[in-house]
Amino acid sequence: MVQSVVLSDRDFRKISDLVYKHCGINLHTGKKELVRARLAKRLRLGKFKTFQQYMKHVLKDKTGKEFSVLVDSLSTNLTSFFREAQHFEFLRSQFLPAMLEQKRKKHNFKIRAWSAGCSSGEEPYSMAITLLEAVKGKGRWDTKVLATDISTSMLEIAKTGIYDSERIKPVPSLQKQKYLVSHRKNKQKVFEVRKCLRDDVIFTYLNLMNDWPIKGPLDFIFCRNVMIYFDKTTQECLINRFWDLLDSGAVLFTGHSESLTGVKHKFKYIQPTIYMKP
Ligand SMILES: C[S@@+](CC[C@H](N)C(=O)[O-])C[C@H]1O[C@@H](n2cnc3c(N)ncnc32)[C@H](O)[C@@H]1O
Repeated sequence: MVQSVVLSDRDFRKISDLVYKHCGINLHTGKKELVRARLAKRLRLGKFKTFQQYMKHVLKDKTGKEFSVLVDSLSTNLTSFFREAQHFEFLRSQFLPAMLEQKRKKHNFKIRAWSAGCSSGEEPYSMAITLLEAVKGKGRWDTKVLATDISTSMLEIAKTGIYDSERIKPVPSLQKQKYLVSHRKNKQKVFEVRKCLRDDVIFTYLNLMNDWPIKGPLDFIFCRNVMIYFDKTTQECLINRFWDLLDSGAVLFTGHSESLTGVKHKFKYIQPTIYMKP
């Protein structure tokens, strides 16, 4: 049976080195069984008898598609609408009202945000809903949320913008009516993101380890539940690159278990997992 296929320490090291170099995900030895179990499925599907055979196949594919599938099988894409509600509450009740006031005074009606590691799209759509609600429809405001991920399969789902009833449960009912429209798909009720919301979110592939063709300054960045898979050096490098892109007074949001303690940075701590560039 392929499920019991053996992953040698040497093959595990090879896989973890490649993954680390490609996308910063740190697969320490404690992850060996997880890697074996997740990739066993790929071996079974491709009818490979050993990890060596499988890796040879992955590396032979110069389009990089096979490697993307490998990374996808090893990373977690878990996400939800309005996940970590305190971040959206902070945006809604504190950060956005103050920022809009400041911008109005300067006749600057542009707001730019980034969801770095957006998975299947629930996070950037929640950010865009919060923004559109704050500016009360667009008026003269020019709002955009850039949403990036390394997973092409997650980006496909995100761009489609169709979610089942279970997934849209955290969206408040008024906003559900405003920003989502229901359909029947294969006899199931599904909800599709309306154009007014879709137009505000730009999805694109981006590996955070590579160059970022992004023009700042940005007003806020969500990079949540992504850095948890990176080592301290990689986290530190990312945090400082975020700093460079943010405007002064702008904010960085990290995931619930991604405090910046132990990471060298210049951000001002606002509340757990919320940091401001003074
Ligand atoms: C657990 S999800 C988090 C989704 C969302 N930010 C949230 O908190 O709900 C982590 C996402 O990070 C992405 N990711 C992991 N490594 C990445 C990298 N090097 N560059 C870009 N995205 C990456 C994964 O593909 C995955 O979609």
